[in-house]
Amino acid sequence: MKILAIETSCDETGIALLDATGGLRAPRFAVLHNFVASQIAIHRPFGGVVPNLAKREHLKNLPVLFDELLAAVAAGRGADVKSENKKHAAFAPDLITVTVGPGLEPALWTGIEFAKTLAKKYRAPLVGANHLEGHLYSFLLPSRSSTAYASAILPGARDARKIFPAVALIVSGGHTILLRMESFSKWKRLGETRDDAAGEAFDKVARLLELPYPGGPEIEKLAARGNSFAITFPRPMLDQRNYDFSFSGLKTAVLYYMRDAKAARRAVNIADVAAGFEQAAVDVLVAKTRRAAEECAAESILLSGGVAANKHLRRALARTADLVGCRFFVPDFRYNVDNAAMIGAAGYMAHLRKKHYPLRADGMLGV
Ligand code: KG4
Ligand code: ZN
Repeated sequence: MKILAIETSCDETGIALLDATGGLRAPRFAVLHNFVASQIAIHRPFGGVVPNLAKREHLKNLPVLFDELLAAVAAGRGADVKSENKKHAAFAPDLITVTVGPGLEPALWTGIEFAKTLAKKYRAPLVGANHLEGHLYSFLLPSRSSTAYASAILPGARDARKIFPAVALIVSGGHTILLRMESFSKWKRLGETRDDAAGEAFDKVARLLELPYPGGPEIEKLAARGNSFAITFPRPMLDQRNYDFSFSGLKTAVLYYMRDAKAARRAVNIADVAAGFEQAAVDVLVAKTRRAAEECAAESILLSGGVAANKHLRRALARTADLVGCRFFVPDFRYNVDNAAMIGAAGYMAHLRKKHYPLRADGMLGV
């Protein structure tokens, strides 16, 4: 089934075309085209995403990206991409899917309205997709890694047994959630953050260190030059026997460290601060996920969301999976931060699960 997917929940405009097969028990995806227009440079001067600017940019980017997609599809057929008619002819998605939440509502609406227009034009069914399910399923997308889903799992209906029960950690700019999954369509929320999301903590600490937005990649780069043992920041909620997280105290600890150093006119090695913070965040994420994996007797650990791009976290969780004897699945680097390919996967699964999300923006939609 050919799926056209649209993502506009935050500051990336994404349009993708996927080929989905395999059904609910052994889904498989080929990403035929995946276009992302990042707005990072536009929001950077403001130190974070400005919803109305995001909306304006999505409105501008959507038709441009869609046109690029049509041209790429037409070129793939050997058609004349300069002819508008030829570009539109023969484009026939079986399903169109669009992120309906969670995210910034003005931004979400741009994608929803655009998708509605396309659904009418191409007479294709339109299904809403949950952005968090997009992250959750992103490990199903093609990957070059040897631990990738596609290379680790053989075709056939019994595939799912090698993955489930699974423990899934979703770590993004807006969410930090731990799930226990019984199958591709059934899961239970074990815990989540009580305050800041993990990515939000990276972004806020980056701001304290006067690094540009988004902070996650900047902290990671800086931390690589620092000593993660030089400064010990707190590991919030590490010893509590639940699966919840808290990152706001960790951010405040960094704030106090910087403030005290300034007051005492003490030189600060910001690479050590970044490394100490990153280590503390990774330690908490890994420890809670490990305990969940052990207590759920998990067959696999799934990691996704923007923060899953962090190599330190990927390595630590891969090691942990090894220690507790489970498989470890993480999406290819292309699919960690927001993109439409993962929304195509979520739309396919929602369609098969007959999960009908209303076609309206829901900023607070959960999993
Ligand atoms: O999933 P995502 O693109 O958007 C949301 O759904 O929120 O995640 C963005 C978040 C940002 O907070 C960003 O700083 C963080 O992911 N991030 C990282 C890294 N790359 C992106 N955090 C830590 N290390 C990274 N390498
Ligand atoms: Zn996201």
